[in-house]
Amino acid sequence: MSQSSHSRRDFLSLSGKAGFSTLVASAAGINLGVIDVVHAQTSGAFSPFRFAMISDSHLFSEADHKFDRQLEDAVAQVNAMAVKPDFVLFGGDIAQNGTEDQLVKGKKILSKLNTRLMVIPGEHDWYLDLGKTWKGLYGVNNSDHWSFDHKGVHFIGLNGILVQDFWTAKNLSPRERMAAMEMLEGPIGGLWGVGPEQLDWLKKDVAKLSPATPVVIFTHAPLWDYYPRWNFQEADAPQIREILSKFVNVTSFHGHVHHTVYNKIGNLSSIGAMSTSWPWPYPPIALPYPASQQNRADPGNEKDGMGTLAASFTSATGSKVVQYQPFEDSLNDFLKNGIHA
Ligand SMILES: [Fe+2]
Ligand SMILES: [Fe+2]
Repeated sequence: MSQSSHSRRDFLSLSGKAGFSTLVASAAGINLGVIDVVHAQTSGAFSPFRFAMISDSHLFSEADHKFDRQLEDAVAQVNAMAVKPDFVLFGGDIAQNGTEDQLVKGKKILSKLNTRLMVIPGEHDWYLDLGKTWKGLYGVNNSDHWSFDHKGVHFIGLNGILVQDFWTAKNLSPRERMAAMEMLEGPIGGLWGVGPEQLDWLKKDVAKLSPATPVVIFTHAPLWDYYPRWNFQEADAPQIREILSKFVNVTSFHGHVHHTVYNKIGNLSSIGAMSTSWPWPYPPIALPYPASQQNRADPGNEKDGMGTLAASFTSATGSKVVQYQPFEDSLNDFLKNGIHA
């Protein structure tokens, strides 16, 4: 990206055919990434559909906190989509400190969505009571991982924030355990992942699926080593990618990084969601090609760099358009018209 383009918004388009992808990145004056992955196979009967993603609301206990309003804005934005999403995925970190009042507040706000809601946990939701309250409110039959088939696409949600027990030996209180996991740098909790039980479950879950089935997988953190110091990673991502290696088309959506980021490893495209609370800075690394960075958020605009995303599936092979929907952007009108590569 040239220096002169830093004052403009980034535009990313990508199309790939059977493992090949071409990236065209240029400054096009918009604050979204459009990622259009096209595969070679032709589709049979198929109804195009869309889902939306909201992530990382980090609700505090205070009444009428600005993060409450920002989550409400996200719900309103999704409810106003011209093409109604078939479901909404919440990508984790509903709460800031994992307390029951914060998780209940999130449930109340998200209940205003006019479509089905699926949720995966983030570390901020989990480590006060090790998921007890979260599972009761958001789990599928009290479980933190799930899958379902929708219009020919197989969707999977995993709990990706599990760490080894670091608290018992240190005799930490639940609040101290939560505080250790709330830090962006995580030297106490260490690297997290989905753990062996979910890996076994995943193997069984996809065993009977045909390789042509498009797969979409949700974890709180990326399925690649983006920046492990901040847990911008899942420790067992290599095993997950191996289990899913038979599929032609796998797409991973994640939260936790609080900014737009894209990467592709083998058959797996990885897409990060913006948060509704605050934007994290980009980690101090150079991203490998073809990853894309948006410009840094405008500190004079409290909602810049935050928003939701919509993913539209356009064929049975998993062709899709992913569209970031920022809350505030001078070019939102342009965005609403839809931009496809
Ligand atoms: Fe978060
Ligand atoms: Fe997180």
